[in-house]
Amino acid sequence: MSDTPRSLVTGAAGFIGSHLCERLLDEGHEVVGLDAFIDFYPRIRKEANLLGLRSRPGFRFLEADLLRTDVPELLDGIDFIFHQAGQPGVRGSWGKRFDEYVANNILATQRLLEAAKGHLGRIRRLVYASSSSVYGAVPTLPLAEDAVPRPFSPYGVTKLAGEHLCLLYRLNYGLPVVALRYFTVYGPRQRPDMAFERFIHAVLSGEEVVIYGDGEQTRDFTYVSDGVEANLLALRPEAEGRTFNIGGGARITINGALSIVGRLVGQDIRRRHVLSQEGDVRHTFADVTLAGRLLEYRPRVALQEGLARQIEWARRSLGAPHGS
Ligand code: NAD
Ligand code: UGA
Repeated sequence: MSDTPRSLVTGAAGFIGSHLCERLLDEGHEVVGLDAFIDFYPRIRKEANLLGLRSRPGFRFLEADLLRTDVPELLDGIDFIFHQAGQPGVRGSWGKRFDEYVANNILATQRLLEAAKGHLGRIRRLVYASSSSVYGAVPTLPLAEDAVPRPFSPYGVTKLAGEHLCLLYRLNYGLPVVALRYFTVYGPRQRPDMAFERFIHAVLSGEEVVIYGDGEQTRDFTYVSDGVEANLLALRPEAEGRTFNIGGGARITINGALSIVGRLVGQDIRRRHVLSQEGDVRHTFADVTLAGRLLEYRPRVALQEGLARQIEWARRSLGAPHGS
């Protein structure tokens, strides 16, 4: 039997999942990357996310939907599961689209957990990509893990349901799970519906930037390599059974972040304010004390540096239809 750790990353063609696969390979894991290419944003962008991965030794890609695949078979020989697959996006989770949130965030998670239950002796960790959106409009900041979660969007409800499912498979069957509540992750390959990706694209294209509401809402932005690092730290024994906030260590208004983008690009920004969006919380700010204490999690990339990297990536990929 080989000593090489074998990991399954669901959502491997997505923003965070593709970065995580690269990092796991760097750390010597064999990686099976699974993705269904759901149509929330164009497949061509997800294919671009996979470009650096497909040819790497130790990586195998599987186009499969967790809802339609024989998941138990897929887990044969897997030590670690990083469950990044999901239907993201706060503002789009209303109306008919809620079905997709239920399917890809709740049902898909339940299918994976059921399958993992059949491999209890082998699986050493299941890390679940949770979200700051489980908190909702909690009045006291920063947000600590023991605050009572009261999601403010349908998306948040489904991410919280997924988190609870993970924890109850631990309580009932002893599945070793960890939930990471990411706070607004950004960096190269960010999803096209997210603020920075839209802002940078608009500024580089000479278009106006659309701001929801007055722009004085704040976010704790997490650079993608910090989110990825948290997944590796979640394999430590101290993490088992716990839920951790994973944030960037500071918060800033959307207006403030946009000013940084303007300075870095060296261009004036034309701003257009439209109505604030249902489901958007006013503020997020992660208390990362627990992750710091138990896992030595320290956000390393400050906003200015992270935005500079995302802008550089966007400049490179703007001309190229496949990105990089
Ligand atoms: P993403 O959309 O880029 O990646 C998710 C991937 O999962 C997609 O490529 C999609 O095709 C795949 N997927 C969805 N349903 C699937 C299914 N049933 N079977 C197989 N594959 C499926 O999103 P992201 O921003 O990389 O987010 C990754 C995870 O982190 C999501 O679970 C999201 O809810 C969570 N999260 C993201 C952020 C953020 O700021 N990006 C913050 C908090 C939580
Ligand atoms: C992000 C992700 O999209 C969710 O998947 C994730 O679960 C969530 O973070 C989280 O932390 O849990 P969000 O904070 O809304 O959600 O991230 P952005 O899309 O980057 O938006 C940040 C802020 O910018 C929001 O207040 C939004 O209203 C605003 N915004 C966004 C604009 O003003 N204009 C835009 O064009 C887009």
